[in-house]
Amino acid sequence: MAVIPVELAGRPYEVHVGAGLLAELVTHCRGRLRKRGVPIITDANVHSAWGDVVENALRDAGHEPHWRILPPGEATKSWEQLAATVNWLLQLEVERGDHILALGGGVIGDLTGFAAAILKRGCHFIQLPTTLLAQVDSSVGGKTAINTPAGKNLVGAFHQPSLVLADLAALETLPARELRAGYAEVVKYGLIGDPAFFTWCEQNGPALLDGNAALREYAVAHSVKAKARIVAEDERETIGTRALLNLGHTFGHALEAETGFSDRLLHGEGVALGMILAARYSARIGLMGAGEAERAAEVIEAAGLPARLSELGLECDGKTLAAHMLHDKKMDAGTLPFVLMKGIGHAFLARDVMLDDVAAFLEQELAD
Ligand code: NAD
Ligand code: GLY
Repeated sequence: MAVIPVELAGRPYEVHVGAGLLAELVTHCRGRLRKRGVPIITDANVHSAWGDVVENALRDAGHEPHWRILPPGEATKSWEQLAATVNWLLQLEVERGDHILALGGGVIGDLTGFAAAILKRGCHFIQLPTTLLAQVDSSVGGKTAINTPAGKNLVGAFHQPSLVLADLAALETLPARELRAGYAEVVKYGLIGDPAFFTWCEQNGPALLDGNAALREYAVAHSVKAKARIVAEDERETIGTRALLNLGHTFGHALEAETGFSDRLLHGEGVALGMILAARYSARIGLMGAGEAERAAEVIEAAGLPARLSELGLECDGKTLAAHMLHDKKMDAGTLPFVLMKGIGHAFLARDVMLDDVAAFLEQELAD
């Protein structure tokens, strides 16, 4: 098992990565579960797959689990589910010093984290991420949010968990498409600032996706270490380091918006294609070689993720896609910061990108 510290001043916490952590959950929580009753929020898919394991782990240690089982899917990150969840926690008389467990992917982690942030002005929560995306990205770093009709993740808070237990066994029941989508976020760490890790992904990505346990452990632990370093340096995304984690997200957000934030394109799939578009756009404006951009595309393609815009069968033009970017929450005083690359492993924040040029680029990519 790997134990990775997230070194935040005054609020440090650990991320444990290994197989079988859910079954040993109470040991890892080391006294944080101070009452008999333990509130635990999950979704129906995760409950079917992992509910018994967690139920037994808690009961064997003398706890009584109180389950809140939400519908799976992005729509659960809503005002309605947030309000109902907070009311449920209040009925359970959860106190500030108690810990709420979030068992699931990014949807459950984001909703539970936000509920914990506002309940009694902030109580503790523990992330038990069960998707690859949640293990390598969303469970670490304290971004919590819900969606509103105005857009995704527009209402939320920074609220750090007290502990993250990333059980690699959970990935065994994850649908293959979700696993691939999460893998895009693994590749992201290589593209942002770690060329050696990108090469590692080139060499090991397909075997990792096929189920090689040692490779999965290495990839998750390595990704979490990268995320922990970034979050410790720039917790609130104020100095720019954390913003690099948005590589591929501006393009990806436009694609997700055009596909209606639906199952047509999962978030990780949008990020995968978005990272390739960011690489190709970087090459177009002379920041990196076209060959290097295609190297990025090959890793994504080898993972079975969408690597060409034309694959999506969108019935829109480049301008329409670029227009979605204007509603991106990263808009800042009328400009949209883009994460671009000066080479693999050399991402930076560009603030002078011309949206018209992006639209023309996307028009070409749609036709390719
Ligand atoms: P998700 O939570 O919707 O999970 C994907 C699907 O897999 C769901 O149907 C879920 O029920 C199922 N599932 C989860 N674990 C399973 C398991 N072990 N076995 C079987 N099925 C399982 O999606 P996600 O990709 O984990 O997260 C996406 C969300 O994360 C988005 O809302 C996104 O905005 C958010 N996000 C947040 C951050 C952050 O920093 N807070 C970062 C990235 C993404
Ligand atoms: N997932 C982006 C971040 O945590 O900042």
